[in-house]
Amino acid sequence: MESTPSAPRFALIAAGEPVVEDFAREVQAGLGGFPKSLPCRFFYDAEGSRLFEEICKLKEYYIPAAEEEILRKHAGEIAASVPAGAMLVELGSGCAEKTRVLIEALLRRGGALHFVPIDISRSALEGCAARLLALHPALHVSAVCGEYRAGLAHLRRHFQGPKLVLWLGSNIGNFDRGEAAEFLGQVGRALRPDDRVLVGVDLRKDKETLRSAYDDPKGVTARFNRNILSRINRELGGHFDLQKFRHVAYYNESAGRVEMFLVSTAAQRVQIEKLELVVDFKNGEAVHTEDSYKYSPEEIEALAQAGGLRILQAWTDGPERFRSVLLAPA
Ligand code: TRP
Repeated sequence: MESTPSAPRFALIAAGEPVVEDFAREVQAGLGGFPKSLPCRFFYDAEGSRLFEEICKLKEYYIPAAEEEILRKHAGEIAASVPAGAMLVELGSGCAEKTRVLIEALLRRGGALHFVPIDISRSALEGCAARLLALHPALHVSAVCGEYRAGLAHLRRHFQGPKLVLWLGSNIGNFDRGEAAEFLGQVGRALRPDDRVLVGVDLRKDKETLRSAYDDPKGVTARFNRNILSRINRELGGHFDLQKFRHVAYYNESAGRVEMFLVSTAAQRVQIEKLELVVDFKNGEAVHTEDSYKYSPEEIEALAQAGGLRILQAWTDGPERFRSVLLAPA
């Protein structure tokens, strides 16, 4: 555990942070196989995290605003659902406005607050903590840098008090339905009976709203998706020409998921030096990068049940695009 001496209210804890070898192995497997794919958890390097923040400001990407609307309305109630003095844990970086709404509600209730964000991106965690600590003198931050599972394991071992766990912004949507339930179950097992989990879930909706949310006219989402190719270039000696890959977001309505691809716009051969790999792409060949699952209210109930959790409250934004669900261990 390292902590910066100038900021004693901050600790950065490494919990199995993915290293370049993990990235190399997964790129090798994903581009070596068929159909080709790339692992979405590697989207979020410093540049990817910055681009994602930009996505969150786009009006087409309705998720942050919808969730913030709900949390502003119900922050007091959410804060009151856990014992006073409970710590706040967030899966995924917690810098956004909506996390601040809850931080402030918990500070009002308890006077001080211990915030534990768990995120794969060290730069996002550091930037986030610096901003929050400057705003709130009664806040302590223990940032856990690692993947969710390693972060949870760390939490279980080292942070025992009562807690509210946030999993916001449709992050759950990047798991398939089975994995989402399984992971919720893991979260549930790390909790005590009076702990709570607040999960953001994006609702199934019309194709057009989803298409523009995941393929915005300014092309920020396209840049975000293609950043994984730049990352291969930067970290693994890749020779991708970003101009030769098109961002495609397709709403698969029966599966209830937005599928993201990078589609090769030419027949091309790309070398990746550090992997000693040469990858051939056909013209029009798609590389799958990410899925974002959408849920109906009934599917949300089934999800909670499969994860062994009880729904205490569920709130929907005005235009019924997004739902925040407050859960308790069953
Ligand atoms: N968790 C976000 C979501 O599914 C991630 C995301 C938003 C994303 N836009 C994207 C991932 C575009 C890949 C490409 O809503």
